[in-house]
Amino acid sequence: MKFLIINGPNLNLLGKRDTTIYGSDSLSDINDFIKNHFDEDSFEFFQSNHEGDIIDKIHQVGENYSGVVINPGAYAHYSYAIRDALESCSIPVIEVHLSNIYEREEFRRVSVTAPVCAGIISGEGKQGYIKAVEKIKEAYSN
Ligand code: DQA
Repeated sequence: MKFLIINGPNLNLLGKRDTTIYGSDSLSDINDFIKNHFDEDSFEFFQSNHEGDIIDKIHQVGENYSGVVINPGAYAHYSYAIRDALESCSIPVIEVHLSNIYEREEFRRVSVTAPVCAGIISGEGKQGYIKAVEKIKEAYSN
């Protein structure tokens, strides 16, 4: 199966940014971790700090993948534009957050993008991406 993994703003700084919250792995460490975990599947990794670029990427999803895993970063909390783009996806999308957004600042406790996703995994660190891919695989096996 083929998966698209999208990471939003500031996630390119993983490993340097707030390591007590986000851990010491860089984004490329996390991407390698995903690839190595599912060595029979293929992955495309996309990261952008720009809302429009993330929306353009979501528009290109079509039927080209089995599923999408997205960590929208802070856009999860206020981007109705990304929400609308995700809503138009015809393949399963799971939202992931490394940290537990429900136990952090008030503004992080709401995700406006999660309600149009098939699920959300928050607070499980890099393992959250693995669980998200597994959830999508499960959806196909039912
Ligand atoms: C995050 C949580 C967001 O609130 C934050 O803005 C991020 C990272 C996470 O993975 O925990 O950039 O999405």
